[in-house]
Amino acid sequence: MSFPTDRPRRLRRSEPLRALVRETRLDPGDFVLPLFAVSGKGVKNPVPSMPGVAQLSVDLLVEEARAAFNAGVPAVILFGIPQKKDPIGSSAWIEPIPAAVKALKDAMPSLLVMADVCMCEYTDHGHCGELRADGTVDNDKTLPLLGRAARAYAEAGADVVAPSDMMDGRVAFIRRALDESGLGDTAILSYAVKYASAFYGPFRAAAGSAPSFGDRKGYQMDPANVREARREALLDLDEGADMLMVKPALPFLDVIAEVRRLTDRPLAAYNVSGEYAMLKAAAQNGWLEERRATLEILTGIKRAGADFILSYSATEAARWLSA
Ligand code: PBG
Repeated sequence: MSFPTDRPRRLRRSEPLRALVRETRLDPGDFVLPLFAVSGKGVKNPVPSMPGVAQLSVDLLVEEARAAFNAGVPAVILFGIPQKKDPIGSSAWIEPIPAAVKALKDAMPSLLVMADVCMCEYTDHGHCGELRADGTVDNDKTLPLLGRAARAYAEAGADVVAPSDMMDGRVAFIRRALDESGLGDTAILSYAVKYASAFYGPFRAAAGSAPSFGDRKGYQMDPANVREARREALLDLDEGADMLMVKPALPFLDVIAEVRRLTDRPLAAYNVSGEYAMLKAAAQNGWLEERRATLEILTGIKRAGADFILSYSATEAARWLSA
């Protein structure tokens, strides 16, 4: 059966028909809002390259999370900007994250609180772990640092810890560290497939985590690879990850689809800072319709296979969807 009998336009004639046959539906419950925590009170440092995003002290962070929660966003993920940085990033387990987690859970027990686990915001050199003399990251020396941070966040009440450092073996190490401390109920969302991407630029300004020399290509993945994504995903599942993530989202929709086919475990995608920044910039110039473009991007990420999406647009998108 073909034209003129078969006419796909018949099902596009009206919004009720389009809605009936819609294959992908976005819901506020699909979103996780990333938040940047700093110590102190009443502190709000806007991030110039990410309009609408700011580093927030814990009191204001709770208000921001409450606004998201009230809009239907079920979860936040926390990044910390410490007062002190050192070669091993020891503020990771000290401040500001444990207090931020506790404040959020005290204020909103049913808000899901995820804590990103990585050393780059806490090290004075900006790399994601402890360095060797030659300036490369020492994988196995970094694992105990990650384990210690994950334990501190879980103890503070985080529902989920999310390692984003790309060290080999960190999921197994963190799982064991949690289990040995009686924190067996804390879930691990692994940034299993994380590329060395240009789209993290605005985040690094927001988190003060740009490497002071070199780049992250020695530990993050080459954007040209998808078979390697399968390998990373399988390894992390084997090590005990409860959920996997692909990051960034837009240049890697095929990778999201590939990992979706590989596992039945929940899959997340991170609609990263650079993706947010370019859309905001175009919208501010009147070059793109912000609401339609944002929802189209989020729909595309979900259609590719993500169960949930980390996005700086979470609260706005949730409000648009409920309007
Ligand atoms: C690492 C981390 C990064 C992001 C999340 N976790 C940056 C990096 O690897 O340099 C990026 C998120 C974004 O760009 O929105 N701690």
